[in-house]
Amino acid sequence: MSGPSRAKRAAVAAVVVATAGAAAFWLLTAPRPLAPSAIPAHTPDLANGELLFHAGSCISCHRPAKGTPGADPALPSGGAPFKTPVGTFYPQNLTPDDATGLGRWRPVDFVNAMTRGLSPSGRHYFPAFPYPSYRNVRTTDLLDLFGYLRSLPKVVSPERPPDVPFARVARRGVGLWDLLALRGPRFSPDPARDASWNRGAYLVAGIGHCGECHTPRNLLMVPERSRWLAGGPHPSGEGEVPSLRGLVARKRYKDAADLTLALQNGETFGYDRLSSGGMGEIQENLSLLPDADVRAIADYLVSLPQAPVDGAGAAPRPSR
Ligand code: HEC
Ligand code: HEC
Repeated sequence: MSGPSRAKRAAVAAVVVATAGAAAFWLLTAPRPLAPSAIPAHTPDLANGELLFHAGSCISCHRPAKGTPGADPALPSGGAPFKTPVGTFYPQNLTPDDATGLGRWRPVDFVNAMTRGLSPSGRHYFPAFPYPSYRNVRTTDLLDLFGYLRSLPKVVSPERPPDVPFARVARRGVGLWDLLALRGPRFSPDPARDASWNRGAYLVAGIGHCGECHTPRNLLMVPERSRWLAGGPHPSGEGEVPSLRGLVARKRYKDAADLTLALQNGETFGYDRLSSGGMGEIQENLSLLPDADVRAIADYLVSLPQAPVDGAGAAPRPSR
C-alpha cells in the first residue's frame, strides 16, 4: 500500500474518532435537570431556612465585596472574590432582586442548582460552589432555605463573571466531573444510631459541607469516600486540613461536650486549630446554630474512629 493513501486513511480515522469523541463529550456533559413536577408542594418554614443558611455558611462566600458602598455585609448580595486554584469566582447575589438575584427563580431552579450544580439555563456550575455536598440535603429543607432567601431584602448587585480561563468550555467539562462526583447515593440516616447522631451526620454530610475540605481528594479532585473526613491538602491549594477522625482518642477534645464548646466558641475559649483556612468563618456560622445541633455534630464526629473503615462512605451511611 502506498504512503499517501495510508496517511489519508489515518486522517479519516482521526476525524471519525474526534467526531465520535466530541459527540460523546456533548452527550455525556448534557445538563439533566429535575422537572418542576419533581418538586413537592411545600410551605416554607423560614426559621428552619435561616438555620440552614447559617449551617451552610452561605454568607461566607456570597457576601458583598469589602467597601461596596451601602452594602450590608449580613446580606448575601454577592460579589466578594473567592479564590480557587482554577481562578477567582465572585459568588452571585442570593437576594430576591428580579434582575440580578434569585427573584425570578422557581423552586425547581434552586433545587437544580443545589443538588445538580445546574443553572436555570442549564449551565454547569463549577464545584467551587459545594453542590456535591448540598445534594445530600432533603428537598423540603432546600425549599425552606429558598423561602428564607426570598424573604430577605432585595439588593441590586449584578453578577460578575469568574476570572477562569476558557470558562465556557470548562463549564461544559464540569459535566463529566459531575458524572464521577455526583454518582453515589445521597445521604440516608442509619436506623441503628440515635436521633442526635443522625442529625449530626446529616448536617456534616449535607448543608455543613464539612467533607469539602476535610475529606482528601483523588487525582481527579473527587473526594475519596473511603477516607471520609480523614484530612489532607487544603482544596485551595495552600496548607493542610486536619482529620476529624479519632478526635477524642488523639486527645484533641475530652468528649462531645468539649467539642461542642470548641465549635461554639472557637479559639477565644483557648481551643486551637479552628481559625485558619476558612475554618474561622465556618465556626462563626456554626455558633449561630441551636445548641442541640452543634451537639449533634459533635456527637457524630466523636463517634468516628481514627482509621476509616475501608469502603465506608459519606453517603448513604457516614457511620464508620
Ligand atoms: C465555598 C464557597 C461557597 C459556599 C459556602 C456557598 N456557595 Fe453558592 N456559589 C459559590 C460559587 C463559587 C458559585 C458560582 C459557581 C459558578 O459560577 O460556576 C455559587 C453559586 C451559587 C448559586 C447560583 C447563583 C446564580 O445566580 O446562578 C446559588 C443559588 C448558590 N450558590 C446558593 C448557595 C447557598 C444557598 C449556599 C449556602 C447553603 C451557598 N451557595 C454556599 C460558592 C459558594
Ligand atoms: C473551607 C474549608 C473547611 C470547611 C468547609 C470545614 N473545615 Fe473544619 N477545618 C478547616 C481547616 C483548614 C482547619 C484547621 C484550622 C486551623 O488550624 O486553624 C479545620 C479545623 C477543624 C476542627 C479542629 C480539628 C482539631 O484537630 O482540633 C474541627 C473540629 C473542624 N474543623 C470541624 C469542621 C466541621 C464540623 C465542619 C462542617 C460544619 C468543617 N470543619 C468544615 C477547614 C474547613
